[in-house]
Amino acid sequence: MSTDRFLWGAATSAYQVEGGHFRADWVGAGDACAHDRLFPADLDLMAGLGGLNAYRFSVEWSSIEGVRGEFDADALAHYGEMVRACNARAISPIVTLWHFSLPKWFTERGGWLHPDAIPDFLRFAEHVAAALPRPEAWISLNEPNVYVLAGYVAGLWPPREKRPDLALRVASRLRAAHRAVLPVLRATGAPVGIAHHYAAFASASALSLAPVADLVFNRHFLREPADFLGLNYYTRFHFAGLQMLPWRGPTQMGWEIYPEGLEEALRLFGSRRLPIIVTENGIATEDDDLRTSYIAAHIAAMRRSGADVRGYFYWSLLDNFEWSEGFRPKFGLIGVDFATQARAVRPSAHAYAQMALNASNGARQAGQ
Ligand code: FCB
Repeated sequence: MSTDRFLWGAATSAYQVEGGHFRADWVGAGDACAHDRLFPADLDLMAGLGGLNAYRFSVEWSSIEGVRGEFDADALAHYGEMVRACNARAISPIVTLWHFSLPKWFTERGGWLHPDAIPDFLRFAEHVAAALPRPEAWISLNEPNVYVLAGYVAGLWPPREKRPDLALRVASRLRAAHRAVLPVLRATGAPVGIAHHYAAFASASALSLAPVADLVFNRHFLREPADFLGLNYYTRFHFAGLQMLPWRGPTQMGWEIYPEGLEEALRLFGSRRLPIIVTENGIATEDDDLRTSYIAAHIAAMRRSGADVRGYFYWSLLDNFEWSEGFRPKFGLIGVDFATQARAVRPSAHAYAQMALNASNGARQAGQ
């Protein structure tokens, strides 16, 4: 992974932006941002900002293998095209293999607990690795801890189980899934990591669940073999005793703005002595000035950490389908009118690109 070209980028995931993924285990995104056909124009907008040089996106398993064992050559070609479209604009692509949504057949059959889950995921990875030009980096799994919590404990996301007794089994399957695809992705010559979700936890009472949450949620997947650590960081949660306190932050998700948490996360991740990429960091808000100050504060926190960080990806390039919350939260550097698919580049996008440019120029002058 390059040490002389810091990756300044933005991220999306296929189900949340592409549209038309009717064979997935999720419903609700519909046409989303129609990014499956508008990606060249979206990449033009990104490149036109003048400071960003990287894009993280995911491939959608349910469109590549909508029926088990049948691989769709057009779907694979589409993602190859996306990699090429990035390269043509001097934007480094980072490709996520699995970002939450799964083929319906996979989830209905028993998801990650089915005996064929890992071999099937491996076969899917082999098809993707063979079809795509080499990206800058691969992400094998996005936020396995969030998936387990939302899908198997809270019961909010497919497969909508409230079975904490299954959670550890699913987590260990996901670790096995990562290890299975690691050599296949590495064989392309690109580095591989997991995008880990880190949450800051605070105690509002002398004794609370916060340290347990930190141990179970933040550290479970951290020791997996990898070439770098992806870090997705957004906010801090408060516990009083066994209770998690309601979210009262100023964002559309109710999340608190707590940049110190990013510094904390980077210190923890830094202890693994691997390069780090901040693979997601962002805010849902209609107040675009707040978005700009959020980004500036988190970039400053990243700097203060002193960690070996090689990239920063804002979530998200576009307003999109935010899972359980639907289309309401506005995370985008680029606003989307979902009725017309019109794009509106927000001032925060220009502000962020300028921050990236200043940092790149500063590094160049310092001879780095
Ligand atoms: C992360 C997810 C991403 C997006 C942001 C807001 O947990 O990886 O898909 O939903 O949160």
